[in-house]
Amino acid sequence: MQKLLTREEIAQAVHRMGGQITRDFAGQSVVLIGVLKGACMFLSDLARQIELNATFDFIAVRSYGSKKHTAGEVQLIKDVTTPLRDQNVILVEDILDTGLTLTFLKNHLLEHEPRSMKIAALLDKPSRRVADVEADYCGFKIPDKFVVGYGLDHAERFRNLPDICVLEEGGQE
Ligand code: IMP
Ligand code: MG
Repeated sequence: MQKLLTREEIAQAVHRMGGQITRDFAGQSVVLIGVLKGACMFLSDLARQIELNATFDFIAVRSYGSKKHTAGEVQLIKDVTTPLRDQNVILVEDILDTGLTLTFLKNHLLEHEPRSMKIAALLDKPSRRVADVEADYCGFKIPDKFVVGYGLDHAERFRNLPDICVLEEGGQE
């Protein structure tokens, strides 16, 4: 498979994003909420680049549609257990595509009345956006190609690739 982003480029972007978060929340604490399963690698690397008092939690959703696209209906399958009221919440997601998943999650978490709510997305495909949502911290803007690796899957495969690669055409839609 063709590499789009190497592990070195990913590490550099994650380092930069961690630095931004550290500066923006200087003197405060943050709660990182990873969206399972895709964001697990990103969250674990990002957390180690944040020099603040930080805690983690995880949330999981299922989005209906084909293997490659969100159809628009998002269902919560695992909620957070950390109290979020008055906390600085950073939602950590692998990729912002149509934006439907993050819009759903953002609205869901806002019900907990956090002090602040930010989105950190490693990848962003702006050309596919349907919902009005943007990342506050973004690693890379990428073209409309289906990518796998570093947590991102196709039908649950390839999450363990250390680099982010473009999935060859011909995969099942
Ligand atoms: P959205 O709701 O369309 O923004 O979709 C976000 C979710 O779709 C991500 O959390 C991924 O699980 C999945 N997704 C979107 N694009 C890709 C891709 O290129 N590779 C792997 N998963 C993707
Ligand atoms: Mg995902």
